[in-house]
Amino acid sequence: MKKKTGIKKIPIKDYDAFVDIVANAYPGMKIITPEDKKKTVKQLKESAEYPTMDYYGLYRKGRLIGVMALYDFTINLFSTKAKIGGIGLVAVDLLHKKEKVCKEMVSYFLELYRKKGACMTALFPFRPDFYRKMGFGIGSKVAQYSVKPQDLGRAGMKKHIHHMTIKDKTALERCYNRFVMRRHGMMSARPNKWAQVFKAPTAKIIGYKKGTQILGYIIFTFKKVQENNWIKNDIIIQEFIYENRDVLNELISFLHTQSDQINRIIYSTQDEYFHFILNDPRDGTDNILVPLAHQSNTQGIGIMYRVINIKRLFRTMKKRNFNDQTCRIKINIKDSFLARNDGSVILHFYNGRLKGEGKRDYEVEIWVDVGDFSSLIIGAVDFRSLHEYSLADISSTRYVNLINSLFLVAQKPMSTTQF
Ligand SMILES: CC(C)(COP(=O)(O)OP(=O)(O)OC[C@H]1O[C@@H](n2cnc3c(N)ncnc32)[C@H](O)[C@@H]1OP(=O)(O)O)[C@@H](O)C(=O)NCCC(=O)NCCS
Repeated sequence: MKKKTGIKKIPIKDYDAFVDIVANAYPGMKIITPEDKKKTVKQLKESAEYPTMDYYGLYRKGRLIGVMALYDFTINLFSTKAKIGGIGLVAVDLLHKKEKVCKEMVSYFLELYRKKGACMTALFPFRPDFYRKMGFGIGSKVAQYSVKPQDLGRAGMKKHIHHMTIKDKTALERCYNRFVMRRHGMMSARPNKWAQVFKAPTAKIIGYKKGTQILGYIIFTFKKVQENNWIKNDIIIQEFIYENRDVLNELISFLHTQSDQINRIIYSTQDEYFHFILNDPRDGTDNILVPLAHQSNTQGIGIMYRVINIKRLFRTMKKRNFNDQTCRIKINIKDSFLARNDGSVILHFYNGRLKGEGKRDYEVEIWVDVGDFSSLIIGAVDFRSLHEYSLADISSTRYVNLINSLFLVAQKPMSTTQF
């Protein structure tokens, strides 16, 4: 009998082989002993039961050689809820690397989410250049701050701040979901997020509670600063959600008042302006950047986005106001990875609204790769910069300002979903 080749959901009987591939691809996960493997198999089986995520495997001659986790997420795309596909846990058998296993799996993922009705996909890259080649564009930068508690705002009121317990799970979930609809770029949570948070022995949650509602919270852990000093700890913030400024003030107050015991608060955020909240925005390294700038944080590239269906994307954004701009534009997308997405679309904007689908005339034309277009449309970069860096071309430079205004966003996308 001919052994099967192709991609399918991984059947439970193959979970041992699945874990072996993951253990070798991510040695940092420390899946070493038979007990570690058993525990991981159990965890994977539990997660596979959630209806919004699945594990897929690539088989050649009946043998599992590549795996990935796929997620059905929703994203707040300029106040519209849209489907977005997520991919994670990509791993290839050590013996089969550089045989285009990953390429085949990513192609499958993109096609699958086109079929599922998504217009975009997202991932956290192990290397941004690797996935940029596959058409993923850079999202908002992540800034990591290391702040002394006493430099964080001021100690004010904190009468609504409480420890959160499992009883607060539903209210926390609701708070998170409201925040998703409030902030562009926020995505639905990983299906097992709250189960994992409450299971994690070291995770603490404090929240702002008003009546039965929770309007903000911080999930954090403590981390020892020095091996031989058990009293000195940092607070590592995993998630910081607040629905309004009063909530933010009380949560900040809570952190501020930890100054007696806590060395520094480590916080990674996509909030571009967070340094304004700090009394002293320096990060304690005393590094001076040439010619004279005080190091305030370190930064990184995290989430990447990829448009997979440009026509559906604009249909999804039909309620978006494109900054009151009026123009007739042809957008030429180069997509060498997903041929069906390669091509052009003609759009007419009147006072910021998309009108007249199917029209053939245009006054200006732009050319851009799908990855950079994805960054542009989500608002992680502006058109003027793409044009200046020769990452986008335009039929007439007289239109650069107009196209820049068309796609400009008030707030860059933010996402705290981990996958
Ligand atoms: C990273 C990892 C998944 C890569 O898997 P892989 O199967 O070896 O990768 P592939 O062979 O599919 O390499 C990608 C190919 O797609 C090709 N490709 C990328 N974009 C392309 C495009 N637009 N058009 C055509 N080909 C393209 C690349 O050129 C490359 O082929 P090449 O090696 O011939 O140049 C694997 O090394 C691994 O398991 N690493 C450890 C775990 C990890 O870090 N996972 C990633 C988590 S996000």
